[in-house]
Amino acid sequence: MLDGKHIILGITGGIAAYKSAMLARLLIKAGAEVQVVMTPSAKEFITPVTMSALTGKPVVSEFFTANTGEWHSHVDLGLWADAMVIAPATACTIGKMANGVADNMLVTTYLSAKAPVFVAPAMDLDMMAHPSTTANIDKLRSYGNHIIEPASGELASHLTGKGRMQEPEVIVAELEKFFAESQSLKGKKVLVTAGPTYEKIDPVRFIGNYSTGKMGYAIAEEAAARGAEVTLVSGPVAIKAKHPAITVIDVESAKQMLAECQAAFPHADIAVMCAAVADYAPAEPADRKIKREKQEIPTITLVKNPDIAATLGAQKKPGQILIGFALETDNEMTNALEKLRRKNLDMIALNSLRTPGAGFGTDTNVLTLIKADGSESQLPLMSKRDAAARLLDAISPAK
Ligand code: C5P
Repeated sequence: MLDGKHIILGITGGIAAYKSAMLARLLIKAGAEVQVVMTPSAKEFITPVTMSALTGKPVVSEFFTANTGEWHSHVDLGLWADAMVIAPATACTIGKMANGVADNMLVTTYLSAKAPVFVAPAMDLDMMAHPSTTANIDKLRSYGNHIIEPASGELASHLTGKGRMQEPEVIVAELEKFFAESQSLKGKKVLVTAGPTYEKIDPVRFIGNYSTGKMGYAIAEEAAARGAEVTLVSGPVAIKAKHPAITVIDVESAKQMLAECQAAFPHADIAVMCAAVADYAPAEPADRKIKREKQEIPTITLVKNPDIAATLGAQKKPGQILIGFALETDNEMTNALEKLRRKNLDMIALNSLRTPGAGFGTDTNVLTLIKADGSESQLPLMSKRDAAARLLDAISPAK
């Protein structure tokens, strides 16, 4: 999977830098071209000579070559890369990356890189557990960077705990998995709905719900990262899609969402209905703001909204995959299965509002994936992005 891939290997100043030599070797053995970028302090731990001999390329560390004045372009490097791996990543470099402190070649290259970035932290257990480090790592995650979690074991300090850089083999396997997955939906068209719908009462008021769109956006990002062309029909949310292969269509009401979905669904290979669609809408929204003065308490007559998932389910052609979500508070399994059948879904992802960390607004979710054949798999608490990955894994033909 790494054949011909351009990989920037960023090395920072930690004891685990000795493992970077092995990592470079393994990447090259897997077919990659490796360009090493070192921070000044990394050179205290492993020499540029070792790294350039292993990779067959001069190591880049400074902005300029002192004697010739030749400029090393972090921009060119960033564009050259198919992936950037920072291993080991010290607390210091992680902090600089999280906050854009571009005072060395490695961080400027990181800021210029358009390719996916993998970060393998390595530090003492207390540094690793410090709220500053965890906040910085969370920030990197929120930028879409991949964190290769350190292992637990004996550390350079002779203390035992979490902070050991993952073994080079594990890091290479992560990269291979990433590139394999990045192909898995190549050529596929994926339709995703996300967020709430707003149903107009009058020009300034609406019926809505607490959905933030995080789960649907995570699915759209994950599908795009796997090579799909994604249409994301989104209700009003505060978040933005990042991947260039995602086309966002902003809508407000369930009716608008249905219209956009009906336009996109005939071309879609996979559709994931993640939106929290309002069940009812005011029958006759007022043209003008409903005034409080001199009025009796108004009555809002509601009408049923279209069921988008069920409508698409009725139009589904062989080969198309339709996935729904169920957010239940009671009788979860029975209700989810009933929904799957009624809407003609191939799979339904059940999240229970009773589970801590699951549901509206959180960054994590706990899903149970139930397929049309009745098989189910219960996923543990994980980030919405990881849950999105597992959901897409579950419908890939190999699984
Ligand atoms: O029936 P219920 O709202 O619980 O079903 C949830 C599933 O159906 C979700 O996948 C949701 O996106 C979808 N849905 C829809 N249109 C509606 C109501 C729900 O697409 N009007």
